[in-house]
Amino acid sequence: MSPCCNWMWGLSRRLVLSGRCQLSARHNVDVHRSFSSVPHPPRVCVVGSGPAGFYTAQHLLKHHTEVLVDIYEKLPVPFGLVRFGVAPDHPEVKNVINTFTQTAQSERCGFFGNVTIGNDVTVEELQAAYHAVVLSYGAEDKRELGIPGEDLPGVYAARDFVGWYNGLPYNRHLNPDLSSDTAIILGQGNVALDVARILLSPIELLKKTDITQCALDALIQSHVRRVLLIGRRGPLQVAFTIKELREMLHLPGTRPRLDPNDYQGLGDITKDLPRPRKRLTELLVKSALEEPTEKDATRWSVAEREWSLRFFRSPIEILPSKDGNKAAGVRLSVTRIEGTGDNSIAVPTGQVEDVSGGLVLSSIGYKSIPISQAVPFLPKQGVIPNSMGRVKESPGLYCSGWVKRGPVGVITTTMSDGFETAQAILEDMKSGNLNCSESRPGAAAIQKLLSLKQIQPISFSDWEKIDAVETARGLEIGKPREKILDPQEMLSVVSN
Ligand SMILES: Cc1cc2nc3c(=O)[nH]c(=O)nc-3n(C[C@H](O)[C@H](O)[C@H](O)COP(=O)(O)OP(=O)(O)OC[C@H]3O[C@@H](n4cnc5c(N)ncnc54)[C@H](O)[C@@H]3O)c2cc1C
Ligand SMILES: NC(=O)c1ccc[n+]([C@@H]2O[C@H](COP(=O)([O-])OP(=O)(O)OC[C@H]3O[C@@H](n4cnc5c(N)ncnc54)[C@H](OP(=O)(O)O)[C@@H]3O)[C@@H](O)[C@H]2O)c1
Repeated sequence: MSPCCNWMWGLSRRLVLSGRCQLSARHNVDVHRSFSSVPHPPRVCVVGSGPAGFYTAQHLLKHHTEVLVDIYEKLPVPFGLVRFGVAPDHPEVKNVINTFTQTAQSERCGFFGNVTIGNDVTVEELQAAYHAVVLSYGAEDKRELGIPGEDLPGVYAARDFVGWYNGLPYNRHLNPDLSSDTAIILGQGNVALDVARILLSPIELLKKTDITQCALDALIQSHVRRVLLIGRRGPLQVAFTIKELREMLHLPGTRPRLDPNDYQGLGDITKDLPRPRKRLTELLVKSALEEPTEKDATRWSVAEREWSLRFFRSPIEILPSKDGNKAAGVRLSVTRIEGTGDNSIAVPTGQVEDVSGGLVLSSIGYKSIPISQAVPFLPKQGVIPNSMGRVKESPGLYCSGWVKRGPVGVITTTMSDGFETAQAILEDMKSGNLNCSESRPGAAAIQKLLSLKQIQPISFSDWEKIDAVETARGLEIGKPREKILDPQEMLSVVSN
């Protein structure tokens, strides 16, 4: 997270604290626990309420009839990247929220939003209160390019841009400068395509989504007409997937500009590629080399916006404008690849090329950060070292999701991963490797700690109040929801 984001969040949390004290004491965490039929039920807590946290909890609750699971989330609202990452024009993806809601509404599941583990409560304190602690806190930070000019105005991490249009509290003041006609996106993954699509989509489409109103207003004024997506490797190594490419090809009012030279000869080698890569490459080759259908040709001839892919180019500097006050382009090192397929690497040829554009978005991936010295962490890979979710040399400690395997994979990948970790916990309970014989206080102990710090957690029914307000506000303006951006406002909704 950038220092700027930290500062803003710091301010909000201080303001929130005064609001926390006014919340009622009805969040009695163990009310829903009275039904448990065993004297000392196993207590597990999960840190993070994204897909990894929820799927881990779901699997535990489904396959163990007594286990009690509490989910701690640093934001006042749940669902992680499903709320703050998934693009607003992909509402069907967010349907997983229904499954997560069922899990949270289980009498054996507790939700505690507005609690930052590693800050408000330590991992050691959780370990003392629960038989098992599962770290599912995702990959919140951005990877940095580490090149000159990266801090110039006009340069944004895709992570922050996504957070801005999706209403992530840390990014609500980003206010990106959209006055340039050309946006350069560095990276060719699905996040890069999400960002390109949001920049180029007709406003008529976006205004029916849950994109934040401030992002919508800025996009209405946007001058961006052209988006260039730059990859350091070739068309056989793009990281985006076929569904997202198709969406770009069919985006209303927008034409793809694919350079045929980039795709010559690729058709001959597609048959040897693994199936997803084969189909993706075939679509790229077809789109670049074949005549468009009459419908597409007509559509593209009147399109006012366009996007293109540039390959074998690695960013080496963000170029400043003449007055030095903002970004004006990117200097690229021309590359060639060594090796083949996904494992190939880009090496510089020595040639350099400049491209112009006043909006530069770095979309080179997310990064997990350590939250406690008590938890082993591999900084280079950005993951917690583990075996099937069991944190190395740390009995009782588990991990799942992006912090377990790195910031790649869609929600279904994360689901399998959460299930795997939950299964490891269940096996350890059964084998006795996880000792659940002694009683543990669970959330009651944590709530005492939180009260001492005047921190009032947000329960799942509190979230449902926020949800109802957001949905009602959206309904008034023809959107599925209008997200509340300010954590303090979320808290006042809850206390009203
Ligand atoms: C921009 C973007 C768009 C995506 N779109 C799609 C898509 O359309 N379809 C798809 O299938 N996949 C999509 N994905 C991938 C999908 O979002 C991930 O696979 C999934 O969210 C990873 O789940 P996670 O639970 O590990 O992490 P996250 O979803 O990031 O959840 C982690 C949670 O932990 C919380 N947390 C962090 N630190 C702490 C702490 N110290 N204490 C307490 N809580 C903490 C966070 O606030 C967050 O709620 C997208 C990813 C991105 C980045
Ligand atoms: N609709 C969806 O389903 C959806 C939407 C968004 C995200 N997601 C998923 O979320 C995960 C994360 O997506 P992502 O796009 O952030 O990451 P990603 O898929 O890993 O793509 C990162 C891109 O950045 C490039 N890159 C990395 N380091 C670079 C550097 N130093 N210089 C130049 N380029 C660099 C990579 O190139 P190399 O390949 O050469 O490293 C790659 O093109 C993915 O699994 C993605 O599928 C899914």
